[in-house]
Amino acid sequence: MRILSGIQPSGRPHLGNYFGMMQPSILLQEQGDAFYFIADYHALTSTHDPEVLRQNVRDLAIDFLACGLDPEKSTFWVQSDVPEVTELAWILSCVTPMGFLERCVSYKDKIAQGISPSHGLFAYPVLQAADILLFDSNVVPVGKDQKQHLELTRDVASKFNDRYGEDLLVIPEPQIREVAATVPGLDGRKMSKSYDNSIEIFEETEKKLRKKVMKIVTDTTAVEDPKDPTDSYLIQLYSLVATPEEVAEMEDSFRAGGTGYGHYKQQIFEGIRDHFAPMREKREKLVEDSAYVDGVLEDGARKARAKAREVIDRVRNAVGC
Ligand code: ADP
Ligand code: TRP
Repeated sequence: MRILSGIQPSGRPHLGNYFGMMQPSILLQEQGDAFYFIADYHALTSTHDPEVLRQNVRDLAIDFLACGLDPEKSTFWVQSDVPEVTELAWILSCVTPMGFLERCVSYKDKIAQGISPSHGLFAYPVLQAADILLFDSNVVPVGKDQKQHLELTRDVASKFNDRYGEDLLVIPEPQIREVAATVPGLDGRKMSKSYDNSIEIFEETEKKLRKKVMKIVTDTTAVEDPKDPTDSYLIQLYSLVATPEEVAEMEDSFRAGGTGYGHYKQQIFEGIRDHFAPMREKREKLVEDSAYVDGVLEDGARKARAKAREVIDRVRNAVGC
């Protein structure tokens, strides 16, 4: 089974990125042939400073390795080191009806956030389809916001197979974890870099982390009154870093009343701090060892490229190029 996922180097990863995409990817590397990459071509739609892009790629590679991506088990590379992906993207563009892209909400969302509406931004989902289809991927772990892109990928692959021959491209399945489908941000909306509502997994200092957690919005229920744990952002965030027993205890305490939200936030802060402590330590070592990180990405690109060549040859042959 081939597992594949990608993440854009567009800033430091937050809890949503980690629990939605990075952690499931890391867990899945035990279960199949895992392929993970840093989507720098995708980031060109929004990052226009070459130095910033290079630095973001490097930081994200270090963060992902620190979180447990194991290069002995997974193939890990930078998207642009396997340029065959742009070749496949063009071929897929020629089987993708405009209507498929016009339906994608991410384009409209991104424009609403102030990203300039380039052709690249509009065609982004086709490049993503190429990322997935170029490696005969079976399973793609992502957060819920990527569901539509996965549907488009499946539709494009089917169109291609209808036109050029059955079974040429493997139809992938998204894997979206219910517990972290949408991690809420400080304001209760989806945690996202673009909403300025995120908690980074490696906040610079403990103090900053605590300050952010204390900012999570809550209602105005008085300390002594019982609180409703259903749909509570605090409970949702706590369940990411606590055991089921600890979560049940917090829920009981909500219902009993007599405890203020500040107390729960302190528990969440400690949970996040402790969850990421070993990774933070590993990260510090990796920052000092750039030769190791370079080696991992070079090795990964070589392995990924070998697979990509196989698929692109099959595709070119099928379309007559
Ligand atoms: P952002 O919205 O912060 O720019 P990205 O779009 O770069 O995040 O997302 C990278 C990965 O992280 C994707 O797989 C996405 O589904 C996942 N992800 C992002 N935000 C969340 C969230 N709040 N909850 C769950 N998964 C998320
Ligand atoms: N579009 C994804 C995001 O914004 C990143 C991505 C690019 C991706 N290519 C991919 C995810 C292929 C899964 C598979 O998060």
